[in-house]
Formats: sequence, structure tokens, C-alpha cells
Amino acid sequence: METSSVLKTTEDIQKNNNMGRRTEIATIIKDPKIGDRVTVKGWVRAFRNNRFVALNDGSAFKTLQVVIDEEVIPEDIAKRIGFHACIAATGQLVESQGAGQAVELLADKVEILGETDLSQYPMQAKKQTMEFLREKAHFRMRTNTFSAVFRIRHGVAFAINKYFNDRGYYYLHTPIITGSDAEGAGEMFRVTTFDPGKAPIAEDGTTDWKQDFFGKATNLTVSGQLQGEIGALALGKIYTFGPTFRAENSNTSRHLAEFWMIEPEVAFYDIYDDMDLAEDFVKYLINYCLEHYPDDLEFLDQRIQELEKNMKKELRRPMGLIETLRFVVENDFERITYTDAINLLRSSKPYKKGKFEYEVEWGIDLQSEHERWLVEKKFKKPVIVRDYPKDIKAFYMRMNDDNKTVAAMDVLFPGIGEVIGGSQREERIDLLKSRMAEMHIEEEELSWYLDLRKFGGAPHAGFGLGFERMILFITGMGNIRDVIPFPRTPGNAEF
Ligand code: 4AD
Ligand code: MG
Repeated sequence: METSSVLKTTEDIQKNNNMGRRTEIATIIKDPKIGDRVTVKGWVRAFRNNRFVALNDGSAFKTLQVVIDEEVIPEDIAKRIGFHACIAATGQLVESQGAGQAVELLADKVEILGETDLSQYPMQAKKQTMEFLREKAHFRMRTNTFSAVFRIRHGVAFAINKYFNDRGYYYLHTPIITGSDAEGAGEMFRVTTFDPGKAPIAEDGTTDWKQDFFGKATNLTVSGQLQGEIGALALGKIYTFGPTFRAENSNTSRHLAEFWMIEPEVAFYDIYDDMDLAEDFVKYLINYCLEHYPDDLEFLDQRIQELEKNMKKELRRPMGLIETLRFVVENDFERITYTDAINLLRSSKPYKKGKFEYEVEWGIDLQSEHERWLVEKKFKKPVIVRDYPKDIKAFYMRMNDDNKTVAAMDVLFPGIGEVIGGSQREERIDLLKSRMAEMHIEEEELSWYLDLRKFGGAPHAGFGLGFERMILFITGMGNIRDVIPFPRTPGNAEF
């Protein structure tokens, strides 16, 4: 039998069995050895008729049915097998009598490894809201929904490393603590060892950061890009994959204060190469999940259909989850310029009827309602918008010949909006310096970044993929907080 989640070698399976400790449920489902005596360990997902336990150990989406042999299992043990209790069960694998599974375990020995306090148990078998589950970290991850999400999250992380490794990129670890603001947007968390209110004051009346731990003001990184560029102009092709932090007060279903970003940076690439890489990369990640996580995706697909059953047709997704994923990998992304996007928006129905909340004119930052119209209504597929006005983009982006736009590109996805932001970098030092001056960025602060342009600079480009936004798209979850194990958002740093 096929199972999606864990592919074991024969050697692994043997080792697993010979250790005499436990056999993983994924191993049993994949290749059920009827007649074998095994021990399984896991958490009780359901217990019916005092006899049938649905046991899950996280190794696979599916549960294993454990049938309790009433004759041999003491009653006091059977009584303690509660919802979500942790148990070990030993017995023989037999062909299942029931529908829905090929094999079941006829247990003659059951041990309670972790009791569950049924009187205080806050969760019934009935559905709980996502908000409620966010407060119950230990239960949350054991639900079908979240275990599927976090198995897929793992799979995508693995696929990211595989994609780049197979293509000769080097994984570069850029710093988490830094003295610079890569995006120049000032949305940083300060890192300091000073006591609040007791920081030393310099002669000019401001905080004397020279006396702080690093001898200067530091913050958590918002992006590894600037350091990544140094890597690219030495190793040729690099990528970063790490946590990034933004103190933007955006309480939306698309923003986190702590999120993970993947940032490839490639020497000699221009903006067109950059877009090709972005499209190929995200399609690869989606394909990887379709291939390796069919059970989890199938479940998440059903879940959405269940949720949308009672919704008005206009509010439902146009396609099922798996259908959407297939559609995205099988079709070319639409590519347009920002200027075209503005023209399309201004001739759109919602614009003419005054349905957009925000004004549409050349120079605006596209709002989510605009991005979604382009992707969901106009093109009905992912869209890459490029050549944005310089004034709404970061200082490091390469100036186009029109002197008005920069070689920037955003990849927009249905239901999500921006998943990738990238650009060709300004390699011409004079132009870079004048952009920094316009944006009030001190040259002194980024002298090391300017040095890269002074000593063997080269054209280069890269982008940043928001890891959680990608997972949000692949899993079809509705809120970015539900695709990261421990979400950090304004007012929220529990666990
Ligand atoms: O567009 P951004 O700000 O681009 C950069 O940081 C560049 N330095 C990337 C590069 O060129 N190397 O962020 C990149 C992506 C966004 O497209 C979005 O998917 C995600 O990061 N992102 C967030 N995800 C969750 N919560 C937030 N607060 C996010 N801010 C950005
Ligand atoms: Mg962006």
C-alpha cells in the first residue's frame, strides 16, 4: 500500500522492528505484514465501543485501528484509554474486518504511557475553531488538520533545500542579529542588553549604543538579502532560508511578526532570469507536495469543501485545493508590467463602479484588493508584476532606463496576494548612492554593501519567498497563523 508521508528503506524497517521498541504506523500501512507481532505507540484519536482505537503516531496521515481483545486486557486499563491518551499496544497484525483499512492490530497487551484527564479535557471530539486551537498548543498539533499542515511544512522545507542543492546553489546562513535595515522600512525589533529605562545617554542626549553589547545599535534581521548578495558575488549562486522579523503592526491573515524567508541570489542574473527562477521554483515545490503528500492534501481538500458547504457560491473557491495546485503547475504565470496593471485596473468593472476601497493611479502601492482582482478575476492564475515605480520600492533595486521605474517583480497568487518579492539589484554605485541619499540612508551604515559595487561588482538578481505564504497556498488554510507551529503576531507571543 502507498503511504504519502514516510518513505522507509527495508533496512530502516528491519532496524525499527529489531529494536523491539515500536513499529511506526506509516511502516505498517505501507507494507502490512499480516501475522507479524508488533508494538505500536501513539495517541488515541478515537475510541469506539470500548474496543476500537484509532491510533495515530504522526508518521502518517492515516490512523491504525487497534482492536482491544477484551478477554486479555484488564478492565482498569481499558477504562483509561481516553481521547488523546498516549498508549503502547502490542499484538498481531491481522487483515481488517472493517472497511477503510487493510490491516488492524489485534492487541493483547496495552500500556498507558500518558493519561489524559478526561474531566478537564478542554476538547471534545467535535470540531474546534482555529482560534481556540491556537491557545492549546499541545492539542492543536495532534488534530488531523494541523498534523497534515506541519507534515507538509516539513516537506516544503526539505524540497526547498533539494531544489537548490540539485541546481548547484549554496545555502548561506546570514545573520539573525544585524546592524542594518535591509528593506529600509524601519520595521525592526531592537536587540539590546540595556535595561529599559537605564540605557546610557550620549553627549547629544540620545541613547549611547556604543556602550551596548555589540558596540552599536542592532536589531533582528528583516531579510538576509544584503549579506546574500555578498555570497552571490563570490559563490555565484546562493540561497538563504531562515527566520526574519518585522515589527509592522499588521494584524492580518497574511502577516506574521516572525516568519521564514527563502532568498536566492544569483550573479549575472537579470530581472527576466529572476522571474523564470521564481516560477520554476514555486512550481517545483507544489509538484513535490502533490507527489509526496497526497493523503494530507486530500484531507485538506475535503476539509475546505466541508467548510464551504454552506457558503454562498460567490464566496466559495472556484476550484478545489488539489485542482488549484495542479492548475498552477500546469499553466504559465501571467507576466505584466506595473503600468499595464494600473491601466487594466482603471478599466475594470469594480473600478468604474467605485468598488475599490483604495484609489488606483500610477504611483500607488498595489493594495490587496487590486492584486486579487488581477489574479482572481482578470487572469485567473498567478501573475508576475514587474517594473514598479521607484518610490514605492526598496533602495537597492535597479533603476530602469525610464528613470521612473525599477527592475522589481512581485509574484501574486490567488487567495493570497504577494508570495514573492524580488528584483535585479543596482550594481552601478553612483545610482545606488543617489537612491540611498533620496531615501535618507546613511552611506556609512552600508559601506560594506557599497564596497561590493567597488570591487568586482556584477549584475545580479534575487528574490524572497515568504515561506508561510507558500504553505498557506499549498494547504489552503485561511490564516497564516495556522501554518506556523508557534505564531508571533502583535500582542501574541505565547509558548
Ligand atoms: O517583499 P519582501 O519585503 O522582500 C524582501 O524582503 C527582499 N529582501 C527579498 C529579496 O529580494 N531577497 O518580502 C519577501 C516576501 C514577501 O513576498 C512575502 O511573501 C513575505 O516575504 N513576507 C511576509 N510573510 C509573512 N509575514 C510578513 N509580515 C511578511 N512580510 C513579507
Ligand atoms: Mg514585497
